[in-house]
Amino acid sequence: MIVPGWMRWTRRSLTAAGATLALAAGLLVGTASTSQAAAQGPCDIYAAGGTPCVAAHSTTRALYAAYNGSLYQVKRSSDSAVLNIGVLSAGGYANAAAQDSFCAGTSCVITVVYDQSGKGNNLTQAPGGGEAGGPDTLANAYAAPITVGGHEAYGVYVAAGTGYRDDSTSGIATGDAAEGIYAVFDGTHYNGGCCFDYGNAETSNNNTGNGHMEAVYFGNIKVWGYGTGNGPWVMADLENGLYSGVNAGYNAGNPTVSSRFLTAVVKGGPNQWAIRSGNAQSGSLSTSYSGARPAGYNPMHKEGAILLGIGGDNSKGSAGTFYEGVMTSGYPSDATENAVQANITAAGYSTSTAAAGTLTPGSRISLRATTACCTSDYVRHDDSDSQVVISAISSASTATDKADATWIVRAGLANSSCLSFESANDPGQYLRHSNFQLYLVGTDNSTLFAQDATFCPQTGHNGQGYSFQSVNYTTKYLRHYNYTVYLASDGGSNAWDSATSWSDDSSWLVAQPWG
Ligand code: AHR
Ligand code: AHR
Repeated sequence: MIVPGWMRWTRRSLTAAGATLALAAGLLVGTASTSQAAAQGPCDIYAAGGTPCVAAHSTTRALYAAYNGSLYQVKRSSDSAVLNIGVLSAGGYANAAAQDSFCAGTSCVITVVYDQSGKGNNLTQAPGGGEAGGPDTLANAYAAPITVGGHEAYGVYVAAGTGYRDDSTSGIATGDAAEGIYAVFDGTHYNGGCCFDYGNAETSNNNTGNGHMEAVYFGNIKVWGYGTGNGPWVMADLENGLYSGVNAGYNAGNPTVSSRFLTAVVKGGPNQWAIRSGNAQSGSLSTSYSGARPAGYNPMHKEGAILLGIGGDNSKGSAGTFYEGVMTSGYPSDATENAVQANITAAGYSTSTAAAGTLTPGSRISLRATTACCTSDYVRHDDSDSQVVISAISSASTATDKADATWIVRAGLANSSCLSFESANDPGQYLRHSNFQLYLVGTDNSTLFAQDATFCPQTGHNGQGYSFQSVNYTTKYLRHYNYTVYLASDGGSNAWDSATSWSDDSSWLVAQPWG
């Protein structure tokens, strides 16, 4: 490849000698399946406590020991066919393999999260509302892979614009009636947009006033309420306010939470409510607030719609990931919720067991160039623009540079037999080609995006590591040229299709992650 001196200087300005990482690569290693279905599900525990579930949603597992129905529905883009994803056994875990085979070679979105309670309170694509039009987008079915009890499963990945709702429910609390809510979220996926909620909201999709909502919120927006530290916080969306405690604004009792898997609880009855939270992988719940209603919220005027990922008026600037959650009839006791938390921690939520530095979905990697010029250079982005380049990264690099050069391997958004690469420090943003150049861009859930962001690994063209073939331009591969990353063929009309150094420039070593 031809490298102008000035470009070489800028791109290599952080070069430091000698950083050599163990290079490891292995494809699509399987995951052991171990755990049995639980004898009790969270909703069996709520029922025993006298506060039965009236909505129970999960894409990862049954929430009743006897539940043997569908958890969610996916729709694939190739022919718009849909498939219900059930459990591996009654009371057990999601049959994620059914999704994998149905969606192979195409992309899938989650169209329905079924209600397991028997009340028919299914969550589907949210309509437009007073704050934002609709319908909202549907979650990419592959964007939140995890394991639960050793089984592969997928969460509901809410990017800004994504939302689910049911405006016509059965059995959900209305008026000042009591209810409980919990949800398990990805505690590392959040933002400062309004409002990543799960719970009770308006049936009209409009803001109808204080007390017309009661939902659990997770994120770091500070417009209404907040707690200690920089967030994120678990708060209650009571409409016209995310409350972190009894006061509008700051409440010292509400901590920043930081666990990867987060249990978030809100419950409310007549002039009484509480916020609780805990680590969904271990330990107990802590109570951030329990007591009287904030001024202006007594009595409540709950309307009984259910939403996920959005605010009551369909505000949809929010982001988060949902794995499971329920709404109950009646105000659950702390003891009941503590038993539910024990059930959640026993379920075994975990990030993918993928080993770092391999091409197994879920693993973290860095991608090193193999051309002689550039063997200290890694694929990276930075905040100055959306371009993707290579530059030298070493142990002396800043934490930001290291994170910019770190990628999370995902099952291919357009073909789960291939791969997509999500930024480690910009969740939801993927390596994507456009006009045959690579960029880091947030998914818009379109088929074109999924295809532009999907690459199929092959043995490296120069015999080293891997070459990554575009799924929608199969003669083209990820290639660096003048320190910028392109989609290139071996000879062609674009400058970066140059046959000189093509096999070296299009071969990459899969390295241990820098960040
Ligand atoms: O209460 C916070 C938000 O305010 C609600 O979710 C939304 O309906 C309104 O914009
Ligand atoms: O990068 C090639 C094509 O350019 C992509 O598929 C499309 O997004 C853009 O038009």
